[in-house]
Amino acid sequence: MVLPFVILALAFWQSWAVGVVFMITGPLIPVFMALVGMAAKEASQRQMAEVGSLNDLLIERLQALVDIRLLGAAPGVAQGFAAGAERLRVQTMAVLRVAFLSSAVLELFAAIGVAMVAVYVGFDLLGVLHFGSYGAPLTPEGGIFLLLLAPDFYQPLRDLSAAWHDKAAALAVASDLALWQADAAPAVLGAGDAAARLAGPATIAARGLALHRGGRGLSYPDLTIAAGERVALVGPSGAGKTTLLRLLAGLLAPEAGEIRVAGQALSAETADGWRARLGWMPQAPYFLTGSVRHNLTLERPGDLAAALGMAAVGEVVAALPHGLQTQLGEAGGGLSGGEARRLTLARAIFGRPDVLLADEPTADLDHETARLVTSGLLALADTGCTLIVATHDETLAAAMDRVIRIGGAA
Ligand SMILES: Nc1ncnc2c1ncn2[C@@H]1O[C@H](COP(=O)(O)OP(=O)(O)O)[C@@H](O)[C@H]1O
Ligand SMILES: [Mg+2]
Repeated sequence: MVLPFVILALAFWQSWAVGVVFMITGPLIPVFMALVGMAAKEASQRQMAEVGSLNDLLIERLQALVDIRLLGAAPGVAQGFAAGAERLRVQTMAVLRVAFLSSAVLELFAAIGVAMVAVYVGFDLLGVLHFGSYGAPLTPEGGIFLLLLAPDFYQPLRDLSAAWHDKAAALAVASDLALWQADAAPAVLGAGDAAARLAGPATIAARGLALHRGGRGLSYPDLTIAAGERVALVGPSGAGKTTLLRLLAGLLAPEAGEIRVAGQALSAETADGWRARLGWMPQAPYFLTGSVRHNLTLERPGDLAAALGMAAVGEVVAALPHGLQTQLGEAGGGLSGGEARRLTLARAIFGRPDVLLADEPTADLDHETARLVTSGLLALADTGCTLIVATHDETLAAAMDRVIRIGGAA
């Protein structure tokens, strides 16, 4: 950054007029770059936000790929992507416009500066101008020296403004990064190892639970759930139902409040033992690459036929090309959404859970399949298993003993 000042001093040594030209045009470049940079920051921010939301959309839709195909929702999803891509195009064009504008401003001032020096030197050498140098007129050598210096005077200023632009782009994502870092790391309690079941009746009590997710604060009403109770968690999308299920499973640690399970605090020590008593039915069915049998038993001992019967999925498995030996992939390998959902229920039942956490078990299912899943859940509850279902399904919620409202008007 000392170079422009050295060049400025050299210019003044040869001719004060050239020095004055440098002194006036030079600072204009950073000033205008700062102005343009502010606009660039906002445009980059909007563009980055759009990139982020398109990414989120993609991940979400990929997770729900099976359901999307089955529901015939592909055209709608494609339209959503088209709209997102169009918004991204507009934002990207806005960023490019600012970038081109700033280069234009930069080159314009640099060109004007160099041109003014050239014009001055030219007319001075022709003897038309009689000011600007000290006494004696400019020599040809001095004039050429000044002309060669001029572009180099503006070069570091250009570099500076390029750096300014990089800074604007960095600042655009810095706030997102800060938000992301501010999110408490989603600490899974416990080691995730197999552990002996926690002793005692499977009671659940939560008090003053609160945490931040995606920059949003979530807080929950206090709840007490007795062993064997059937509870529906209802609330609008994004209210935090899934998050609550994860909290209750110790898959996420709250920032405030306490969860007690089977009479003990849910902590790193008790979480594995607690999870050994839990069944989990995720919203998006997920399978490991392997046979249906492997996916249901996860190589644990138990009564598979009983689990298949309770989940009313025996015929589904029997109808598969190779029955229990049929290979499944991540996306379910040819299972319908309803079949996949019922297999995850069978998987949960197979683990002989004392508490089943089910996330939207009937979402996106047709009436008949939803009824089958609901009766499977109730059959499990009849064996004494506590049932906690996050749901939008009023029929399912009505089949529970109690409804707990999460978020919204609660
Ligand atoms: N993995 C995550 N990272 C950051 N934020 C999340 C994550 N999962 C959910 N959230 C946010 O937490 C809030 C509650 O989400 P969630 O528990 O999934 O609600 P629900 O299941 O009631 O629809 C939402 O604002 C959501 O955007
Ligand atoms: Mg959810």
